[in-house]
This record gives sequence, C-alpha cells and structure tokens, in this order.
Amino acid sequence: MNLPAEHPLNTGATGASLLVLNMRGHRTSPLPVWFMRQAGRSLPEYRKLREGIAMLDSCLTPELVVEITLQPVRRHGVDAAIFFSDIVIPLKLAGLDVDIKPGVGPVLENPVRTKEAADALRLIDGDAFAPITTAVGMLVKELASTPLIGFGGAPFTLASYLIEGGPSKELPHSREMMRNQPELWAQILNWCADITAQFISAQVVAGASALQVFDSWAGRLSPDEYETFAKPYSERLFSQLALLVDKDGVPVPRVHFGVGTESLLESMHEVGATVMGIDSNTDLERASALFTNKVPLQGNISTELLTANWETLAEHIDEVIASGLNAPGHVVNLGHGVPPETDPDVLTRITEYIHRTTT
Ligand code: CP3
Repeated sequence: MNLPAEHPLNTGATGASLLVLNMRGHRTSPLPVWFMRQAGRSLPEYRKLREGIAMLDSCLTPELVVEITLQPVRRHGVDAAIFFSDIVIPLKLAGLDVDIKPGVGPVLENPVRTKEAADALRLIDGDAFAPITTAVGMLVKELASTPLIGFGGAPFTLASYLIEGGPSKELPHSREMMRNQPELWAQILNWCADITAQFISAQVVAGASALQVFDSWAGRLSPDEYETFAKPYSERLFSQLALLVDKDGVPVPRVHFGVGTESLLESMHEVGATVMGIDSNTDLERASALFTNKVPLQGNISTELLTANWETLAEHIDEVIASGLNAPGHVVNLGHGVPPETDPDVLTRITEYIHRTTT
C-alpha cells in the first residue's frame, strides 16, 4: 500500500534522518541511537502520568500515548520515538478479554485452545484503530524530523500469550498444540499474523517511518521448531508489511528482533526483515558476517552494563560500535529492553556519548 502524500517519508521530513538512513543501508557518522522499551518503565514522569490508569486504557487514550511516547525523546534526545502501545493491543481491539497486570504482564481470562475458540476469532474492524491512528497523527506533527517507529509482536510471541493465557516459560499448551493439533496451531498463528499486520500497518500509514516486529520468545524454539512452527507465520506477517512503500516505491524499513536468537538469525532475516535487531549474546561482527555484511543491524549494548561505572560502560559502547563497522548501517540500541530499574541519566549519557562519537 502506498503511503499517503503527507506521510513523513513522502514529505521528506524523516527520509534523511540518521535512523532511516542507517536502516536503509547508508551508514552515518555519528550513528543514531534509541532504546527498546524507552517509553515508560524507567521514567519517573511516566509512572506519575500512569497513576491510577490501567496499562491498556493508557494505550488507547491518544493524549497519554503522545505524552508517554515523547517523554524519552525530550529527556534523552534519542534519534527515534517508539510508539507507546503493546503487542497485545491487537487482541484487545479484536474483542478479546486481555489485560496487563502490573508486575505480571499480559493475562487472558479465556485462552484460545480449541477449534471453537479459534473459529470465533475475527479480524479487527478498521474503525477500532482510531485511537492508534489519532495518536500517531498527533505524534508525527510534534516529532517533525524525528522518526516514529511502529511495532507489533511476531505471531509466535503473540500466540504464546493467547494460548497460554499469560506469561509462561515452558509454553506447555503451545507445545502440545503445535505437535498434536498442527491445523489448529496454523489457524491461530495465521490470525495472529493478520491482526498484527493490521496493527502495524495502521501505525505506518498514519505516519510511522519504520517498523519493528518483536519475536521476544522465538529463542525458546530450536532452529527446526522455528522453521516449522513460527517462520511460515512470520513470513505471512512480513509479506503484508512489505507492501508499505513510499512514493518512490521504497519500502518502510522492517526490523526483526528476538532474544537468544543467534541460531535463528538467518531464518529471521529470511522472513522478510530489512534490518536485524541483535541481542547481547551475539557479537555484531559475527552477526553481520552471517548476512555477508549486507544487512543493517540494530543493537546491542548489554543491559547488564547499565549499572557499571561509566568507564566500563563507555569502553563497552566503543566495542559495540567497532564490532558493527562491517554492516552497511548501524542503529545503536540495547541488546534487550530497558530494565525498569535503570537510572534514566545513564541513558541520556549514552545518547550524548554516541552522538559525540565519530567513526
Ligand atoms: O518503549 C516502549 O516501552 C514502548 C512500548 C512497549 C510496551 N511493550 C509497553 C509496555 C513495547 C515496544 C512493548 C513490547 C512488548 N510487550 C513485548 C516485546 C518486547 C520485549 O520486552 O520483549 C512483549 C513481550 C510485551 C508484552 C508485555 N507487556 C509484557 C511481558 C509486559 C510486562 C513486563 C514489562 O515489560 O513490564 C507488558 C507490560 C508493558 N508493556 C509495560 C509497558 C510500559 C509495563 C506496564 C506498566 O507500566 O504498567
């Protein structure tokens, strides 16, 4: 789908930003930086704003979404905003009784484990995206030349909540279903792919200049399991996202990220990603070599070093930048989301440091 004429990638507002340039394979000096999970969590101004408001309600209130999304951009001066929302919002917009419990995560009253329940799943009505598209529209006006990143969850990670009914390490119901009821598994994961495609497309058409798919739990699958039980559905998602192109036919950058995914990186790229997010377990030089140094990378400052003394952290950042040099573009980020207890001043200092570093 062609983006509208007023989209920031079409007006020229964000096309020359450090983020979009690197994501499209044009390395810059200095490099761009943003932090996964930069909105919310570690910021005192976020916690204050959220007092007494349920997580999912806040995600569907445009004024709050705009303010929370902008907080880290103002505070740290990062090179991108990430839309404040959650991977389970499409489940909510599709009418499921999902909630996010503080300190627990997404919980579903009625997990989907039967053919009857799966047959009742419907695509999201276009009007339901109004709070999302309104917030994105307001944000891109405020952000001007700073790109907004839209996001969603990969089918496997989203389905793990839908089928288990909440966060689960072992994924017993999912594993049982993928082995014993492969058709039901396929039906549910296809639906997850389609509603997330709707969710991410809505953010991009409304003004996001890049998109990221989080397959946070993919690392729990072996490479064979990933090929059979996750990859076809991620391909289905990415093939819909690949249709999002600017007026020159250039696609919106598509980032794919997971944790513990070193053995899956090539497969995760093959599904249709144009940028690969790398966690801290994989050296960027090694990751880049897997893609014959042709794929822009995002990552991978260790979240464990955020509490180290500054000299140690700065040395580590230098190593991250050096190890990414073979990639055609590099978006500096953490290896995973900002831990909630992070001192926000450390993130500001990292941003300033990266902006001062030339290569
Ligand atoms: O930068 C941002 O934080 C932007 C918004 C964002 C949220 N969730 C808001 C949120 C993003 C990008 C996500 C992604 C997300 N959500 C993922 C993939 C990334 C990852 O961390 O692996 C997953 C698996 C989820 C599902 C989810 N939502 C979990 C597991 C939890 C609980 C644990 C946690 O992170 O606190 C949530 C809740 C959630 N989503 C919060 C926020 C700000 C915390 C709720 C609160 O503040 O009350």
